[in-house]
Amino acid sequence: MCGIVGYIGDEEATPVLVNALKKLEYRGYDSAGIAVLGSGSEGQGDGEKRSLVVRKAKGALKNLEQRIATEIIRGTMGIGHTRWATHGEPSDVNSHPHTNVSGKIAVVHNGIIENHAKLKEWLKESGVAFKSQTDTEVVAHLVDHFYQGDLFEAVRATLDKIEGAYALAFLCENEPERIIAVRKDAPLVIGAGKGEYLIASDVTPLLEYTRDVYYLNDGEIAVLYRDRVEFFDREGHPLTKETTRVEWDVSAAEKGGFEHFMLKEIHEQPKALADTLRARIKTYAAKTINLEEIGFDASWAQAHRVVISACGTAWHAGVVGKYALEHFARIPVDVDVASEFRYRDPIYDPKDIFIIISQSGETADTLAAMRMARKSGARIIAITNVVGSTLAREADLVMYTWAGPEIAVASTKAFTTQLMCVYLIALKFGHLRKVIDDAELAANIDALEALPALAEQLLGKKDDIQRFAARQFNKTKAFFMGRLFDYAVSLESALKLKEIAYTHSEAFAAGELKHGPIALVDESTLVVAICTQSALFDKMDSNIKEVKARGATVLVITWEDEKYFDATADEVFRIPRTLDALSPMLSVIPSQLYAYYCSVMRGNDPDKPRNLAKSVTVE
Ligand code: F6R
Repeated sequence: MCGIVGYIGDEEATPVLVNALKKLEYRGYDSAGIAVLGSGSEGQGDGEKRSLVVRKAKGALKNLEQRIATEIIRGTMGIGHTRWATHGEPSDVNSHPHTNVSGKIAVVHNGIIENHAKLKEWLKESGVAFKSQTDTEVVAHLVDHFYQGDLFEAVRATLDKIEGAYALAFLCENEPERIIAVRKDAPLVIGAGKGEYLIASDVTPLLEYTRDVYYLNDGEIAVLYRDRVEFFDREGHPLTKETTRVEWDVSAAEKGGFEHFMLKEIHEQPKALADTLRARIKTYAAKTINLEEIGFDASWAQAHRVVISACGTAWHAGVVGKYALEHFARIPVDVDVASEFRYRDPIYDPKDIFIIISQSGETADTLAAMRMARKSGARIIAITNVVGSTLAREADLVMYTWAGPEIAVASTKAFTTQLMCVYLIALKFGHLRKVIDDAELAANIDALEALPALAEQLLGKKDDIQRFAARQFNKTKAFFMGRLFDYAVSLESALKLKEIAYTHSEAFAAGELKHGPIALVDESTLVVAICTQSALFDKMDSNIKEVKARGATVLVITWEDEKYFDATADEVFRIPRTLDALSPMLSVIPSQLYAYYCSVMRGNDPDKPRNLAKSVTVE
């Protein structure tokens, strides 16, 4: 949801900023821009006196790159932005950086200034002429309003006025030695290089320059110089902060020979699943699950209920979690999308266990749900992929998915590893509650350990899905249906196809179709029936016959040795066999591939689907 970057050092800032923005483009790609303190080719700056030069362009970053290739800016400090439009259409003028009237103060912003309308009126009354429709422009004018020769104090005064969520970075022509950055409810990381400091919305753009980073907390201010960075609280008191060493492999954030990040990340699932599992399986007398990281001990037996909250794909992982926890641990589970949870009037019990799931750990609604749940005194467990994310830092206990950086906007490996985490919790909990005995636990652990190799086998058959997609990608309507775990996977499958192929797709609990949605089924409909719950095969078979009778084309996804649907389905895609209750970690993969191939065949960019952003840090 917008990416911001900054650089101060001895190198030319423009290539560093553009390079960093490339790594953040997944956060928004409606427009991009940079502001550099230096000299522009059109004559701003005379080589001695440096002036603030801004370049922006609507659309993808490559448009900005084309501009700056001819309109060169020289200078060794600057800030940059890639936008996901919230206030004002994607356009050159609404692109960041935004400047004050004289063009001497520039700001980039990720988030929303909620009281911008009131501030804008107030500034207009004092004679300020606005250029854009954005909420961010008020910040540039406010800093100008408070500026009396000290950018730091002007920024602090501005923070007193603005409400909402923000990561902001400022540059001022009169202060060519420093960049100022602040955050509240939006991510911001500072990279500490040798004789250079950088700012970014996440760690990935920094890795080329440094592995030592500072995570800024809400309300903290960073002042970056070429040779040091200083931290302050909102009142201006100095703070001491420690760097964190990032151990990620840089190549993990590159495409590694795949055409798109999404395809690469789909293929990384066997390794990601193995990584998620590895640290948690211990062999003492027998194999067991170790969840010390989330404080799993006998006290969990007192829990009355588990509550899961998340958004989008992570919520689908929560739906699987509900089925898994109820099945393996026989404990009641409520699962809710975070944007609903935060505004309804939930009933809390201090004995509840809250599981909050988020790949990025920065989703605004999910963080709000977590903060609400905290007040109830319940135990909060975060499942997240991003070390140092706000969720990881604020939750009581964290279970990392260890999926590695997920760059494609549509989530794949983060989902399957989130599933692995909820299954580990469900099995451990089931054992503690004596719902499953040692032998059943061991059998399930064995099955989990076999999954990475099975996922690899499944990926080996991706050409079958590609061929099927080649025949179906122009379908305008796709329904996914299933029962129990297969219903949860249908939700995720339909979302994938919507997100990147822009196909109207819906998910249905298979038994629910005849209560209304079947009215939509005709010859133009593709129905994907996910059939891994053996006890319900005859029910699924009836549902398949019902949609076929209305003209639908039916793809069945089922076990490799299963013949049940051969007579009814138009096509069967077979996945390697695991236990029925563990199926989602495999059965979702064909849908990920199908969505990917349809997206490419329809001429879309699966990594950067329209209207979406990777990390939704606004409500
Ligand atoms: C779908 C997708 C989104 C995210 C949702 C929550 O492919 O990526 O639906 O799952 O925005 O994001 P996180 O998990 O970062 O909280």
